[in-house]
Amino acid sequence: MPAIILDCDPGHDDAIALLLALGSPEVNLLGVTTVSGNQTLEKTTANAIRVLDHVNRKDVPVAAGASRPLVRERRTAGEVHGETGLDGPDLPPPSREPEPQHAIDWIAQAIAARAQRVTLVPTGPLTNIALFLARYPELESKIERIVLMGGAIGEGNTTPSAEFNIWVDPEAAHRVFHSGIDVTMVGLDVTHQALMAPDHVGRLAAAGKAGKLVADLYSFYSRFHARRYGWHGAPVHDAVAMGHVIDRTLLRTSHCGVEIDTGPELSRGRTHVDVKGAMGWEPNCHVAVGIEAERFLELLITRISRLG
Ligand code: BDR
Ligand code: CA
Repeated sequence: MPAIILDCDPGHDDAIALLLALGSPEVNLLGVTTVSGNQTLEKTTANAIRVLDHVNRKDVPVAAGASRPLVRERRTAGEVHGETGLDGPDLPPPSREPEPQHAIDWIAQAIAARAQRVTLVPTGPLTNIALFLARYPELESKIERIVLMGGAIGEGNTTPSAEFNIWVDPEAAHRVFHSGIDVTMVGLDVTHQALMAPDHVGRLAAAGKAGKLVADLYSFYSRFHARRYGWHGAPVHDAVAMGHVIDRTLLRTSHCGVEIDTGPELSRGRTHVDVKGAMGWEPNCHVAVGIEAERFLELLITRISRLG
């Protein structure tokens, strides 16, 4: 069973990814680390704890990490996730403070304490992971793989050609993609093919407290996607990455060279994916190129329903 650490910026789909992990016996969630992304670090950290509180998982440690990208100014996504980062449900304030250590020190401790290797699942900007790799190079060999949500082969959601997580901190992404670690990129090409629709949400709403939380998240989050894309449903990006950790067969991947564009505004954060091998780059990433969408959504619904 993979031992995992979820590094996230909740964020509606981050919260859903967290619930999916909690409902899935195939993964052993060691803890949650947070980063500035969808909202400020203070808010994403509070949100991670609020979601864990909601399902009575006060035993899962939460450690707060970077409050801004490595080089660039902080950018958030209030237009998608609202003022709190988790607008929609009426969740009480967090019941506890995060762990006293910085996220990267917490990750180092958690990894060093285990004989087996650990899988990192980053679903926000890659700032914490890049900082961790810089600070603890001796622990790289203890990382089994990194399965991240971010990037795209041929589209963008923040600019015409860049996805939010990579766009926010391209320098951190560059560090991670060139780390030599086994990296899997779950990008918009697949997450946009697996929309959570009203009938999925209806089933979740009837399933219990955790499912009702997802339904309340959806009520706010889906409005943005209806407005911007005209979709009758919403992508649950981060949960797709988690789904792949739980069941590798849900995604089809291609091993290819990926370069992160750290250039100026227009191309900032673009993931150049050499799918056809035209550049002859050394493969450094397993890029998701296909998804069994209905099977993924079924997994999501059944696992979150199990939480009651
Ligand atoms: C990614 O950006 C965030 O808004 C989501 O939480 C997801 O991680 C999608 O581009
Ligand atoms: Ca996220």
